[in-house]
Amino acid sequence: MSARIEIILADITTLAVDAIVNAANNTLLGGGGVDGAIHRVAGPELVQECAGLMGCETGDAKITKGYKLPARYVIHTVGPVWKDGAHGEPALLESAYRRCFEVAHQHGLKSIAFPAVSAGVYGYPMREAAVVALTAAQTAIDLYPELERIIFVQFSEGAQQVYRDVAAKLGLCT
Ligand code: AR6
Repeated sequence: MSARIEIILADITTLAVDAIVNAANNTLLGGGGVDGAIHRVAGPELVQECAGLMGCETGDAKITKGYKLPARYVIHTVGPVWKDGAHGEPALLESAYRRCFEVAHQHGLKSIAFPAVSAGVYGYPMREAAVVALTAAQTAIDLYPELERIIFVQFSEGAQQVYRDVAAKLGLCT
C-alpha cells in the first residue's frame, strides 16, 4: 500500500486525525448513517456551526470544528444519490472528494479520514465508489505533499475487502 493511504475497519468517530469527512446531505443539519454518528459524538455545538453554513451543494465540501470528537475538524461533503450512473454521479462524487482535499489543503491538514461517501443510504455501488475515492487520493498525494495520512474507513469487512481489491487494481499496493 502507498505509504500514505490506509484502508481500515473502524468507527470514524473514534479517530484522532486532523479531519474526518462527513457524508452529509444538502442541509448540513444532520441525518442518519455516518452523519448521525458524527453529530452524536460531536455534540450540539456542531449542528449550531453547521446551521451558519447555509447548506452545501452536492459535490462541494465545507469545514467545521470537531467539538467533542477526537478529530480536530469535520469536513462535510455531499455525495450524489445514485440513480443509474448516467446522471452525473461519478463526476459529482469525484468533485466531493476533490473539494475535501482542497479544503484540507487550505487548512494545512496532514491527516484525513473518509467514510465511503454516497455508498450507504445514497446507494452508490461500493466498488465504483471505491474507484472514485482511491483515484482522488492518488491525485491528492501528487498535489499536496503535506498530506501524511489518507485513511479510508470501512464499517464492514466486505466493504474493506472491496477497497483493498480496488487499491490493488489501481496499483496502490506494493
Ligand atoms: N464510521 C465509518 N463508516 C460509517 C459509519 C461510521 N460510524 N456509519 C456508517 N458508515 P451513509 P451516504 C458507513 O448512509 O450514502 C445521511 O442520513 C456506511 O456503512 O452514512 O453518503 C446523510 O444525512 C456506508 O458505507 O452516507 C444523508 O442524508 C458509508 O458510511 C445520507 O445519509 C456511507 O453511508 C448520505 O448517504
